[in-house]
Amino acid sequence: MMLLVHLLMGALAVSAVAGAVTGAVTGAGRDESSAAYWHAEAQAGIAARLARRPAERARNVIMFLGDGMSVPTLAAARTLLGQRQGATGEEAKLTFETFPTAGLVKTYCVNAQVADSACTATAYLCGAKANQGTLGLSAAVPRWDCDASTDTSQHVESIAEWALADGRDAGIVTTTRITHASPAGTFAKAANRHWENDAEVRQAGYDPQRCPDIAHQLVHNYPGNQFKVILGGGRREFIPTSSLDEEGRSGRRTDGRNLIEEWQRDKVSRNVSHRYIWNRDQLMDSYSSPPQYLLGLFENNHLQYHLQANSSTEPTLAELTEVAIRSLRRNEKGFFLFVEGGRIDHAHHDNLVELALDETLEMDKAVATATKMLSEDDSLIVVTADHAHVMTINGYSGRGNDILGPSREVGRDGVPYMTLSYANGPGFRPHVNGTRQNVTAEPNYPPTSLK
Ligand SMILES: *[C@@H]1O[C@H](CO)[C@@H](O)[C@H](O)[C@H]1NC(C)=O
Ligand SMILES: *[C@@H]1O[C@H](CO)[C@@H](O)[C@H](O)[C@H]1NC(C)=O
Ligand SMILES: *[C@@H]1O[C@H](CO)[C@@H](O)[C@H](O)[C@H]1NC(C)=O
Ligand SMILES: *[C@@H]1O[C@H](CO)[C@@H](O)[C@H](O)[C@H]1NC(C)=O
Repeated sequence: MMLLVHLLMGALAVSAVAGAVTGAVTGAGRDESSAAYWHAEAQAGIAARLARRPAERARNVIMFLGDGMSVPTLAAARTLLGQRQGATGEEAKLTFETFPTAGLVKTYCVNAQVADSACTATAYLCGAKANQGTLGLSAAVPRWDCDASTDTSQHVESIAEWALADGRDAGIVTTTRITHASPAGTFAKAANRHWENDAEVRQAGYDPQRCPDIAHQLVHNYPGNQFKVILGGGRREFIPTSSLDEEGRSGRRTDGRNLIEEWQRDKVSRNVSHRYIWNRDQLMDSYSSPPQYLLGLFENNHLQYHLQANSSTEPTLAELTEVAIRSLRRNEKGFFLFVEGGRIDHAHHDNLVELALDETLEMDKAVATATKMLSEDDSLIVVTADHAHVMTINGYSGRGNDILGPSREVGRDGVPYMTLSYANGPGFRPHVNGTRQNVTAEPNYPPTSLK
């Protein structure tokens, strides 16, 4: 049986534990007015969980990380999922909400009440809480302290390293720059998450020879140099300021090095099959027989939001995940794969809730792909998040109210408010003459991203 674990953040997860019914229909056709309906739903949920016997030992492990995927984000995303299918929405289920096990995690860091994606990555990938902004280091190393970070006794190993030591393969997939905090937690030892290229290390007053940047570590250091699949964005961290990438955008390195070429040369010297790819067509070419080592960097910066991307040129997270699994599952001993839906967080930071929810649903599609591809007998899939966000669900709207629209109520001032709103960030509108502004006609997000 597949061991499927869904770890939620925060304190509101009870509904996810109680809610699973396999094969539930949504919307019309159910007699929700009957108490027996709800009793049957609860019984079916318990029976479905009891029927699944967890595997004693998992050969393959995939960890899905929804960056900033708070509990209210899950509630809103499942409602949007159902509403997109023409149902009322609230009763819908994300794929991972049907997993048999759910839990809660506390996400504070050693020196921080509110976590960032680096100290959390260190915690959930290396098993030790750390200082905010640091990667792969114990909390004995303060952020920005290059010298302290060179003490290897304070380095903590990631689960990717444990997998490699056990003869398994490892890979990483993300919608952000591949050197960004969450994926970097699998391979980097860095006193500052922002040291993604050598220029950033120099700007902080340090010698990149002493504290190599995160892109350099991925290409040249263990365990990154052993990863069989590396798929994400962030070409700019790998090429010099004097170079343009395949889409005409410049690099950020000031050491003149092209780490994409160095990655290829390393694989040539090891006489292993390998390929560097940068667009969706090339990913599809690698689909049926991936090389032993695959490096895919699909944007200069982060991948575009799914709703803003050109789907013929930008791969989806599900497509990336599928190719990664096809590559890694060739190892009979098994594999560890880290998959991040990294832009849920970015959209929340910018208060672009439709994008945040859509990115959540995109990650859920990747989870669905993985559950279909792996055997229930030997694989563990964990879906979790690293911290919450300030999005809240407001008002007493009726069942099926557009989750992206205004609440059915208006405030005492007679002005509408949105069901989903943010406690801080650019969604704030100043009062005019002491009255809230009517934001209901504002667009949810711009049609294309500013690159
Ligand atoms: C490189 O690998 C190929 C295919 O596995 C093999 O035929 C060849 O002998 C290897 N070359 C060297 C120099 O090891
Ligand atoms: C998407 O990309 C393809 C290939 O470059 C191009 O032909 C098409 O016009 C693009 N679509 C949009 C909507 O920009
Ligand atoms: C707010 O804006 C919406 C959409 O433009 C409009 O239908 C509604 O009447 C407005 N409400 C108030 C109180 O101004
Ligand atoms: C705000 O109040 C002032 C003074 O009554 C008035 O001139 C102005 O038009 C009002 N602004 C808006 C946006 O209602």
